[in-house]
Amino acid sequence: MKTRAAVAFEAGKPLEICDVDLEGPRAGEVLVEIKATGVCHTDAFTLSGDDPEGAFPAILGHEGAGVVVDVGPGVSSLKPGDHVIPLYTPECRQCDFCLHPKTNLCQSIRETQGRGVMPDGSSRFSLDGKPILHYMGCSTFANHTVLPEIALARVREDAPFDKICYIGCGVTTGIGAVAFTMKVEPGSTVAVWGLGGIGLNVIQGAKMVGASRIIGVDLNPDKVALARKFGMTDFVNPKDVDDVVGHLVEMTGGGLDYTFECIGNVNTMRQALEACHKGWGESCIVGVAGAGQEISTRPFQLVTGRSWKGTAFGGARGRTDVPRIVDWYMDGRINIDDLITHTMPLEDINKAFDLMHSGESIRSVVLY
Ligand code: APR
Ligand code: ZN
Repeated sequence: MKTRAAVAFEAGKPLEICDVDLEGPRAGEVLVEIKATGVCHTDAFTLSGDDPEGAFPAILGHEGAGVVVDVGPGVSSLKPGDHVIPLYTPECRQCDFCLHPKTNLCQSIRETQGRGVMPDGSSRFSLDGKPILHYMGCSTFANHTVLPEIALARVREDAPFDKICYIGCGVTTGIGAVAFTMKVEPGSTVAVWGLGGIGLNVIQGAKMVGASRIIGVDLNPDKVALARKFGMTDFVNPKDVDDVVGHLVEMTGGGLDYTFECIGNVNTMRQALEACHKGWGESCIVGVAGAGQEISTRPFQLVTGRSWKGTAFGGARGRTDVPRIVDWYMDGRINIDDLITHTMPLEDINKAFDLMHSGESIRSVVLY
């Protein structure tokens, strides 16, 4: 079949809207009509050419929602008409990682996914007979796409695609970091570096689990009003204080129970660790640092009881946890609507990247 897609032909160039060829689902695969997709920093990172795994031409996009159109042989858990969210972190429920209670990083299709192909080693997309690569196993910048069955979460049918697509990456990353990776307890003190799309989701996760104090750290005071709406109780602008770590330690009588770095900057990662309370404070790296960058601290920080962790996809096991997060949204426990600041048709997708780079948007969503 033909489908409309925004194709990344080359690093650093705008996406081009094309009618591409899409082959139907093979064994264990599912054809999905994408109804809406968010545009995330990770798409921009890959498009920039800085992503060591990035390869072109490719159809980017990994934050979508849609409807199953067709299933290949052997698919048993999904049928045409089911509503789904694509998962760049799949859940096979069989590999060593899925069977281990401490991780969500299913490895069953990791190698082929990283190369931009389906698990059998081939691509379903092509243009003029030449293959186009998949991206993060999702390629939601195409109106139709093919995914492995294990990379789709089935979700309730009354949930709006234009909002729940954001659960495919940003919402789950932020809320999951709090609820699944760090398991923040009620009454905890929390600090969050970066009040963008990821940091605001960490804040609302912290509020949801009952944190007593939620301190936001950001250079941009324009972020304060929305962050307060999502549950931030205190704001610190690093420009206004000499020593961010010392200031936070003083504010909290010894440091934070939990900190979250949601910028992707190795200097703020160090601050977030060192602002943790001696003896028990735990810091979680959520932001993605540039290729080749390294973190540092004095080992004494860890010896004296602070710990450093990281999270991918918020520690969520996609097929199990994503439908629960959709329920949290539908029950009014989390706010997605106020984070989606812009929507546009696929033809205008390059505007979504401009809005992200200028810092004007929290999240842009493309509606098919
Ligand atoms: N100190 C404090 N705040 C900072 C600093 C800094 N040194 N640098 C940037 N910020 C703030 C910005 O003002 C902005 O509010 O961090 C926020 C980042 O927000 P966004 O640009 O909206 O980024 P977001 O989508 O939240 O993603 C953050 O997570 O997914 C990764 O790759 C992504 O690494 C990025 C991070
Ligand atoms: Zn993402």
